[in-house]
Amino acid sequence: MTLEGDLRLVAARWSSRARWTVLTGAGVSAASGIGTFRGSDGLWKNFRAEDLATPEAFARDPHRVWEWYDWRRQKIAAARPNRAHEVLASWSRRQAAFRLITQNVDGLHERAGTEHVTRFHGSIWDIRCSKRCGGSGSSWVDTRAPLPELPVRCPDCGGLARPGVVWFEEPIDPEVLRQAQEALDCDVCLVVGTSSVVYPAAALALEARQRGAWTVEINPEPGAADVDLAIVGKAEEVLPEIDSILH
Ligand code: OAD
Repeated sequence: MTLEGDLRLVAARWSSRARWTVLTGAGVSAASGIGTFRGSDGLWKNFRAEDLATPEAFARDPHRVWEWYDWRRQKIAAARPNRAHEVLASWSRRQAAFRLITQNVDGLHERAGTEHVTRFHGSIWDIRCSKRCGGSGSSWVDTRAPLPELPVRCPDCGGLARPGVVWFEEPIDPEVLRQAQEALDCDVCLVVGTSSVVYPAAALALEARQRGAWTVEINPEPGAADVDLAIVGKAEEVLPEIDSILH
């Protein structure tokens, strides 16, 4: 099958009543200038995840962890959603049962206007008291970039605050897991721009497939996800091409 034929196969499944669930990862934001984690230019080539994205790293050196997140917040604040985010946002408004589960913490799907977003790994714009002291609902949104003072402190108890993201070794919020599980009952599941190596997110596509969804991966280097159809290409090119077949 040609690429054109594959894109037509996907487009043929689109209807306003079809239940589409899209799982996204860092590759969706690559064209916005936000670096991915793995691969030759990936963030984890220059930084060690265990020094920056674990509870131990934060306990050891909160200032260093906050500096890294503040740097990423500044990069993301200067970035804009790309064509991939825009197409997904338009589908979310045109399909009643559309669901999007993202591992990205950058908020670009929401900035593009996507509805029904489940943030599997939290948001880089959320901050919460590391002691969960209970004030401010324990969690608040702060979009300032750079942040005026590091490390950030909880306004209620004065203790250390932390980024509202999921770190390695931490569990996924039960309500987020519930939403994600519900979204796996779908007709089509697109897996876009993720290396599918970080669990439990990496297990979602297979579960959707086992429940009967037709699963499609869109990635310039596909292969990690166990899917029905792999489309080799960039999200910001493939998704607009599928969308153009719909019009
Ligand atoms: P990765 O950096 O592991 O994978 C990015 C994927 O995007 C790779 O498979 C690339 O081939 C693909 N890619 C690159 N450019 C692309 C493009 N233009 N269009 C489509 N795909 C492209 O990122 P994630 O899979 O999101 O977790 O990483 C998963 C988790 O690992 C992250 O949420 C983060 C990280 O460590 C935590 O911090 C807990």
